[in-house]
Amino acid sequence: MPPKRPKVNAEHEAIATKLLERMNLRQKIGQMTMAERLSAEPDDVRRYGLGAVLSGGGSHPGDNAPDDWVRMNDEFWQAAMGDGDGPGIPILYGCDAVHGNNNVQGATVFPHNIGLGAAGDAGLVAEAARITAREMLDSGLDWNFAPTLAVVQDCRWGRTYESFGNDPQRVASFGRHYVEALQGEGIVGCVKHWAGDGGTRNGMDQGETTLPWEELERTHIAPYYPALEAGVMTVMVSFNSWNGEKCHGHRFLVTELLKERLGFDGMVLSDWDGVNYLDEDYGTAIRLSVNAGLDMFMVPERWREFIDALEAQVRLGHVSTARIDNAVRRILRTKLRCGLFDRPRPSRRLGTGSGCTGCAEHRTVARRAVRESLVLLKNERNLLPLKPEQRILVAGKNAHNLGHQCGGWTRSWQGETGNDTIAGTSIWEGMRELAPNARLSAGGDGGDADPNEHDVALVVIGERPYAEGFGDIRSGDDLVVEGGSMVNGLMNPLEPYARSLELAETHPEDLACIRRISEKGVPVVVVLVSGRPLAVGRELAASAAFVAAWLPGSEGRGVAEVLLGMGDFQGRLPLPWPGDGDPAGGEMQFPGGFGLSYSPAAFDNVVGLNYKAG
Ligand code: GLC
Repeated sequence: MPPKRPKVNAEHEAIATKLLERMNLRQKIGQMTMAERLSAEPDDVRRYGLGAVLSGGGSHPGDNAPDDWVRMNDEFWQAAMGDGDGPGIPILYGCDAVHGNNNVQGATVFPHNIGLGAAGDAGLVAEAARITAREMLDSGLDWNFAPTLAVVQDCRWGRTYESFGNDPQRVASFGRHYVEALQGEGIVGCVKHWAGDGGTRNGMDQGETTLPWEELERTHIAPYYPALEAGVMTVMVSFNSWNGEKCHGHRFLVTELLKERLGFDGMVLSDWDGVNYLDEDYGTAIRLSVNAGLDMFMVPERWREFIDALEAQVRLGHVSTARIDNAVRRILRTKLRCGLFDRPRPSRRLGTGSGCTGCAEHRTVARRAVRESLVLLKNERNLLPLKPEQRILVAGKNAHNLGHQCGGWTRSWQGETGNDTIAGTSIWEGMRELAPNARLSAGGDGGDADPNEHDVALVVIGERPYAEGFGDIRSGDDLVVEGGSMVNGLMNPLEPYARSLELAETHPEDLACIRRISEKGVPVVVVLVSGRPLAVGRELAASAAFVAAWLPGSEGRGVAEVLLGMGDFQGRLPLPWPGDGDPAGGEMQFPGGFGLSYSPAAFDNVVGLNYKAG
C-alpha cells in the first residue's frame, strides 16, 4: 500500500508559485545546485542563488567548534536572505551527522547504526536522533543526510556499519523512529540511498544490485514506506545500479515509483557527483538525471559547470522548463515545510548555541546505547562478568583508541586514530575508572602478561576506521581496475582493499596478542571493535569469552560497565556472522539474532553487583 503523505499546504504552494514566477532560468537552476563549502563562498550563494551547501565528511569551518559552524551558517544565511541582492530564498546546509553530530569537535558520538541494530531498541534510535538534532541545531545546521535505510546483505560491504542490519522490518521501524525524532526537533531528514544499495553484488560499494522487482521491493524499498509516511522531507539516490541501470538515471525508480506511485512530493537529491557515472558527456549525464526525476544535485566542486550545462540542456530543449519548475517547486516546498523561510538567521534560532554539544546528559544516553549494543558470543566457565577487584591486564590495538572505536564519519570522512581529536572515554579508560587493579599492557600487545600478576586479560581487537568503498573487502576479479576507474564505474580507492573476511589474515596482530597472553595461562576476554561481523574462528578458539562491540562511538566506558556486570548483555546479532574459510562469508558461525546473556549464577560471585534481569 502506498504510504500516506502529508497534505500539500496551499499557502506554501502559493508562495512557491510567486517565487517561481519571479525567478529566471539560471536562478531556478541555482536552487537545484548544492555546492561543498570549500568550493563556494557566501558571495556565490548571493550571485548564483545556490539552493544548498554541504560539508563533506570532516569538512569544517575554523577550529570546528559549534560557534565556528554557527558563524559560517550565519554568513551563508546573510548572503541568501540578508543583503537584499541575494535570492531571498534560504539555503539548506547539509551534512552527514550519521552517528551524532559527528563532524563537530566535542560532539556526542553514538554507536554506528549496526550497533543500534544489535541493540534492537527503536526508542533508543529515536533518542539518538533527537540528541543528534539538538547538537546539530547547536551548530546552526538544518539538514542531515540520515538515516541510511540500507538493508545490508553482504558484510564485505564497506558501508555495512551504516545499516541497521539485514532485517527489512527492523530497518523500516528504525527509519521511521529516526525520521520522526529528527524532524520533530526541526532538522530536515534524508533517507538514503534509493534504492537497493545494501544489495550490491559481493558487497562492492557503488556496484550492481541484480534482483527481480519483487525482491528489490520486499527487501530494499519497503523499509522506506514508514519513513515516507512519517513525512521524511528528502530522499538521496544511490550510486548503485539496479539490474544494470544506474539509479541516478532511473526514471522508473525515481519518478514513476517514488514520486508518482508512492506519492513522494518532497525533494530527491543526488549523491556526491552521482550524475558523473551516467555518461562521459557531462551535459548528457545531467539531462539523463534531471529527466529521471532528481531535483537537487550534489555537485560539490563542479557546481558552476553544472549550472551552465543544465541551462544549455534546457535551451536545447532536452530538458523541459516544466521539469525545472517541478524540481524547484519541490525544493521550495521542502524549505517552506521545514519552516526555513520563517526562521531567523542561524545564530538567533531556538537551540543554536545551546551549549548542549557533548553534554553529560547526551553522553549518558550514548553510554546506554553502547551497553545495549554489545553482543556476547562466548563465555566459557562464566569468566564474565569480571570482578572490579580483579587484576585485569588490558591489551590490544583498540583498547585505548577513541578514533578506532568511533570508526568512519567521525571528525573526518575516513575516521581517526588515537585519542587526541575525539572527546569521550576509550574502553581502557572505562576499565580504569571501574576496576582499580586494571592495568594497560605496556606494549599494548600483551607481552607483559604474567599469571602471577594478572587474573584475567581483556584484549580489544578489530578494524581500523574506514568509510564507503574504502572499507570493502574484495578479492579476485572484484579487484579489476581499468585505467583510472574501477570496473562498473566504481570508485577508484587510493588504498588497496582488505582481501579477506578473516581477521587473522587482515590483522594478524590481534590473534598474536590473544595467543601471547593465553599461552601464559592468563584467560582472555576478547572485545571486537569492527564495523561488521568478521570471520574470527581462530580468535574465538583462543579466547575464553568473546564480545562483539561494533563501533561503539565516544562512550567506551559503556563496554566496561557491561564487562563488569553493571548491566547484562542485551544485544543480538543484526545479521548472520560468517565462519572461516568462505571468502563470501557463506558459512555461518552464528545466526542472525544470536546473543548470550549473563546467567543469574554468573552474578553470584560478583560482590556488590546485583543481577538485573532482561
Ligand atoms: C557520500 C555518501 C553519502 C553522503 C554524501 C555526502 O559519497 O555516499 O551517503 O551523504 O556523500 O557526504
